[in-house]
Amino acid sequence: MPTTNILLAITGGIAAYKSAVFARLLIKAGFEVRVVMTTGAQAFITPLTLQALTGNEVHTSLLDERAEAGMGHIELAKWADLVVIAPASANTLARLCMGAADDLLTTVCLATTAPVLIAPAMNQQMWAHPAVQLNVTTLRDLNYHIILPDSGEQACGDVGAGRLPEPEMLFAQVLHFCAQQATPQVLADKRVVITAGPTIEAIDPVRYLSNHSSGKMGFALARACVAAGAEVILIVGGKVALETPIGATRIDVRDAAEMLATSAACVEGTHPDVLCCDHDHDHDHDHDHDHDHDHDHTPRPADIFIATAAVADYRTRDAAPQKIKKTQDNMVLELVKNPDILATISADYPDLFVVGFAAETQDVEHYARGKLAAKKLDMIACNDVSRSDIGFASDDNAMRVFFAERYQKDAVTLEKASKDNIATQLTALIGALLPEYA
Ligand code: CTP
Repeated sequence: MPTTNILLAITGGIAAYKSAVFARLLIKAGFEVRVVMTTGAQAFITPLTLQALTGNEVHTSLLDERAEAGMGHIELAKWADLVVIAPASANTLARLCMGAADDLLTTVCLATTAPVLIAPAMNQQMWAHPAVQLNVTTLRDLNYHIILPDSGEQACGDVGAGRLPEPEMLFAQVLHFCAQQATPQVLADKRVVITAGPTIEAIDPVRYLSNHSSGKMGFALARACVAAGAEVILIVGGKVALETPIGATRIDVRDAAEMLATSAACVEGTHPDVLCCDHDHDHDHDHDHDHDHDHDHTPRPADIFIATAAVADYRTRDAAPQKIKKTQDNMVLELVKNPDILATISADYPDLFVVGFAAETQDVEHYARGKLAAKKLDMIACNDVSRSDIGFASDDNAMRVFFAERYQKDAVTLEKASKDNIATQLTALIGALLPEYA
């Protein structure tokens, strides 16, 4: 069931002002938002502000006859598809741990069956206190989902972890959570390595060869795989300025050689950025999964490799160590072939499930099946780049997907849709093949 009704609970803390912008973002995205405020919250921001922003009366009291005659605490708990507590004070964390029901917020949390996302915010010394950390652990055990606070300068002048993430980030976390809730967890416990974007091949220290790849398809796939429960490592070539998908580990590289070396290290699990799995990935609900690997430095090999990168086919034989001066009228660059990352990884790690992409202008099926066999892939997704309405910089794509012969599966057509939609469909196709593959 899609999330439409969000109950935003605001507790007492200076970060409460951010909740107004956060509420606005939720409303603009089409969510129905109702607000609960604790007494403490009302010392920082008024119910009237939130009422004006959400168009709904703000709920502040458990024992308010008028409020209970309208939407009482049980109705409110039933109405919510998702409860978000932002900011959540140290006091609120403690009371939720105890199962207290001494105000509207805690009572609703006991009475609801909806998932509850908690964004703690407090002074860094308070956040670091073992009692607070113990409460966070307890809340996770009680099936609450934690959005970890940001680090940085705090309103009180301290520097450290404890800040409420910016409203845009909270909003992105909510969308990510909703996507995960709505997505079958076909890649649960799988580690996926994805290459994305162009590579850039140096000519000299200031110039390079590259291509127009935007990286959008690879980033969309990273989001879809995270939503389907995977741990995702996204290897990004060139200068892609896209926002890193929540929950993915991003590693930026420049050229094909670096992308190949990084891909191999990530597939083996020996790259320093992926060796210890105790990374930011547990921003919320993947806590259990992460804890399995906490402080575990044993390399964890990947299960799936997806190559969406537009790797430059050639690089200069020798990049000039100094900037080349324009002393000649003509200039000849000698190019040599780059390694094929996909084919190399597929050959070196035969147990991996390997997915390729292809861009073709003609004979799509013929060339796709050729690459499927030559690069020993499990699956290949092709787009027709002769169409101007899809591909490269576009937000849309359309694909024909072909499978290795051993799956005995007919090709699938994915009609023109957003890259996010195509990525979700591709992820489902990968998930459906995995049991057979194992
Ligand atoms: N690929 C790769 N390394 C390369 C070239 C391609 O990993 N050096 C991967 C791409 O990420 C993509 C797939 O191989 O998943 C197909 O790439 P494409 O450029 O379409 O095919 P090529 O094999 O390079 O063949 P051609 O350019 O002749 O069509």
